[in-house]
Amino acid sequence: MSEVTVRVLAEDDWDTYRQMRLAALKESPQAFVSTYDEELAYDEDFWRLRMRRSTRLLAVRDEENLGIVSLGDAQPIDDESDLQVNQRVAELFGMWVDPKARGTGVAWRLVDAAAAEAREQQRTHLMLWVVVDNGRAVAFYSSVGFRPSDSRRPVRTDETLTEMAMVLPVSDDPGAVPNSLNR
Ligand SMILES: CC(C)(COP(=O)(O)OP(=O)(O)OC[C@H]1O[C@@H](n2cnc3c(N)ncnc32)[C@H](O)[C@@H]1OP(=O)(O)O)[C@@H](O)C(=O)NCCC(=O)NCCS
Repeated sequence: MSEVTVRVLAEDDWDTYRQMRLAALKESPQAFVSTYDEELAYDEDFWRLRMRRSTRLLAVRDEENLGIVSLGDAQPIDDESDLQVNQRVAELFGMWVDPKARGTGVAWRLVDAAAAEAREQQRTHLMLWVVVDNGRAVAFYSSVGFRPSDSRRPVRTDETLTEMAMVLPVSDDPGAVPNSLNR
């Protein structure tokens, strides 16, 4: 089997991103806040705007697209959380690996590439939100070094579910503080 490569998509790759995103929403609706039907209706301009707004990373093996993840600015967390974010914290979101490629290291390659991209952007940490009941995702993120934080919030589209923020230090800077990100 050939190596997995991960590349950053350009704006003109919007349709590749769109296809991966729609596949993710169809296959794993419970993992994402948005829905397949909602995003199917978006036009080219919207997808292009999305490409410009965040970094999109695509995992490919033997010319087959196997996984996708996005990287953007982390949004502020409520005042009561110990976990405060700033512009040096990037948020990882929209992580999805095609079921046939799960358990093969593709997800790890995506996180590794996202961490490298975050370092390029002078970020110190990656953070993400994951539904606490998503056992496989929580196990995966833990296995690649993400640490649970005390930040929780209800899932916007289903308030019976809770999301947890997890954090991964990515900086070589020894002054970067992993648990208190507001410095
Ligand atoms: C989350 C995701 C990207 C992880 O990729 P993956 O290839 O499945 O991850 P891996 O198989 O490398 O790691 C998963 C780990 O969880 C374990 N696991 C599997 N199912 C589990 C479960 N229900 N509960 C706990 N652990 C579980 C696996 O054994 C594995 O651990 P191991 O490496 O020690 O064997 C992928 O499963 C996916 O795309 N899921 C659907 C979309 C999604 O949930 N995205 C996350 C949104 S935050």
